[in-house]
Amino acid sequence: MNNFTFYSPTYFVFGKDEESKTGKYVKRFGGKKVLIHYGGGSVVRSGLLDRVKASLEEEGISFIELGGVKPNPRSGLVYEGIRLCREEKVDFILAVGGGSTIDSSKAIAAGTVYDGDFWDFYMGKPITEALPVATVLTIAAAGSEGSPDSVITKEEGMLKRGASGEALRPVFSILNPALTQTLPREQTAAGVADIMAHLFERYFTNTKEVEVTDRVIEGLLLTMIQEAPKVIKDPDNYEARANIMWAGMMAHNNCCGVGRDQDWASHGIEHELSALYDCAHGAGLAAVFPAWMEYTMKQDVMRFAQLATRVWGCSMNFQNPEITAKAGIDALRVFFKKLGLPLTMAELGGKEEDIPYLAHTACYGNGKKGTVGRFVELKEEDVANIYRLMR
Ligand code: NZQ
Ligand code: ZN
Repeated sequence: MNNFTFYSPTYFVFGKDEESKTGKYVKRFGGKKVLIHYGGGSVVRSGLLDRVKASLEEEGISFIELGGVKPNPRSGLVYEGIRLCREEKVDFILAVGGGSTIDSSKAIAAGTVYDGDFWDFYMGKPITEALPVATVLTIAAAGSEGSPDSVITKEEGMLKRGASGEALRPVFSILNPALTQTLPREQTAAGVADIMAHLFERYFTNTKEVEVTDRVIEGLLLTMIQEAPKVIKDPDNYEARANIMWAGMMAHNNCCGVGRDQDWASHGIEHELSALYDCAHGAGLAAVFPAWMEYTMKQDVMRFAQLATRVWGCSMNFQNPEITAKAGIDALRVFFKKLGLPLTMAELGGKEEDIPYLAHTACYGNGKKGTVGRFVELKEEDVANIYRLMR
């Protein structure tokens, strides 16, 4: 196991109706003038925004609002948020929504206290300071409620890039699984794929002797495999929603990724798809991951066979472990398909002729030096081959 430090200071508040205490927590974490940031309207329609505002009013906390975050959040609204926060002397950002809203909030939080262009952070400048961000989460997916990451798309050239910094970890996050019951089926399924992808990105490692995190990841994957079909069948299944929501947080706050090298090629490969075709990130990952697995399997067949036996219940073929490894990948495809997720470029709106561009930006965008991934370092040609396997 590698050396590591792990500091995850987010205060989590989990369960039914807990959003009614938002004002109390904002006060406890020092917010006096709040920007409430939200998306395209689901929180307005569900009445959540009104409940959150009422709870701030109860505590005498003043606030302003900025809605309109799109999935795959854009830089334009971030600039507007930064301007608003400076003008109104905002000292606390409250994201009410999903990963896109949270990521946009984090970008505004870092940009408000920085003299330069906030995009510098998405080109690699370290983030050392940000306004405090808190979240009321409405979808189990990105894990941004516990992560130090933010992903923003710059309209010019539709470049989707990530930034990371401990200052971006939310100070508190309220997770009420009942709030996710209004999600459309495709969004629930895309969230499941994203959560599982965060686990796979960590599972495929060249670091040896990482049994503890292997086992945590496998446990979370088994949970997702058991619980996801339940919510697809019955969107009001609170208990299944609860298990998925907490798994989503654990999958990405890095408690199961410490002490090991992580891969992250599939996320890089997917980000190019959601940037160009504006598909849901999780839907893109459902198509990318099985293709990536097939392409990289030979790097460590036994690790793939371990996943197949421990998680998918495949029997081990000792004469030919490749057969076992492949059976695990097939099981993943079948599982995603049952959830109604896409498995091909075409289903995502992708075109064969875009592949060279996609592969190039995946490997050279954002200051990358021509490769993506750590489990296997993929070059432009490899990435193009993976896109081609998505059919
Ligand atoms: O915008 P509204 O109207 O709220 O609708 C949203 C949006 O259309 C809707 N929705 C959310 N909660 C709902 C709901 N509809 C009904 N009822 C509810 N309770 O769902 C749609 C998707 O929302 P979004 O916030 O985009 O979803 P998600 O959480 O999957 O976030 C995706 C973004 O996060 C990034 C992705 O790249 C993508 O841009 N990621 C962020 C990460 C991080 N910060 O740590 C890591 C991830 O790997 C990921 O890259
Ligand atoms: Zn993701």
